[in-house]
Amino acid sequence: MKTLLALLAAVPLAAFGAEGYRLDRSPHDPRDLVSLQSGARTYMNYCLGCHGLQFMRYEGLKELGLSEAQIRDNLMFTAEKLGEPVKIAFNPKDAKSWFGVAPPDLSVVARSRGPDWLYTYLRTFYRDPKSPTGWNNAVFPNVGMPHALWALQGQRGLEVVANKEGGHAAVQYKWSEIAKGTQTAAEYDATVRDLVNFLVYVAEPSGIERRPIGIVVLFVLGVLFVFAYLLKKEYWKDVK
Ligand code: HEC
Repeated sequence: MKTLLALLAAVPLAAFGAEGYRLDRSPHDPRDLVSLQSGARTYMNYCLGCHGLQFMRYEGLKELGLSEAQIRDNLMFTAEKLGEPVKIAFNPKDAKSWFGVAPPDLSVVARSRGPDWLYTYLRTFYRDPKSPTGWNNAVFPNVGMPHALWALQGQRGLEVVANKEGGHAAVQYKWSEIAKGTQTAAEYDATVRDLVNFLVYVAEPSGIERRPIGIVVLFVLGVLFVFAYLLKKEYWKDVK
């Protein structure tokens, strides 16, 4: 009962962004290595220009099943050695003067914002002529970041319409297509799913190992229990 109440209390907070835009559930799977590798590739190609991952070293990418050569040849754009942290490609001060705000480090963004928010944020950029970058976002109004993945997703417009009937949803969101991207909607959703998967991994790399270790611990405890039980029977068998 208590957990049910706690769940009910948490739902409205979890399901809506700042402006009431409904967040989509992130379908990422932390055990899917192929998805994590694809997310790492998208990150290095499209995000590292502005956002570092200071708590992550290039070496760490080996945990995702990548070889040193693969990391060196395809993913290492901002370092010489595998032991170096994943730094941004240019000077953060320049970035601040270009965008008005410095792009934050994203090492722990999956913990501060949550995967659902990230999954929705990266799929809800829209064209806005009034914004300095020409872009705006449904869950991060007046965001200082341009849509980094627009070539993949294409360009969309968003119209927020007041709901005349009132009632539950005060406004309706109407998306329109301005220009197609290189990916279909389903492909783009998968790209973002993998990217969010990678960001969740970066925020908590040990998450991958923790589950199997937990299972081993339970197994060992189970075996110990059997021995303890047999031992107890052995000790007590003559005490009648
Ligand atoms: C051209 C530079 C640039 C690129 C490329 C870029 N971003 Fe950003 N990003 C920014 C800036 C600037 C902000 C700060 C926006 C603000 O606070 O208004 C930001 C903010 C964010 C935030 C919100 C952080 C927070 O909690 O406030 C996330 C998440 C994010 N970016 C993810 C990404 C991802 C993922 C990519 C790659 C697909 C990416 N960004 C590519 C410039 C960039």
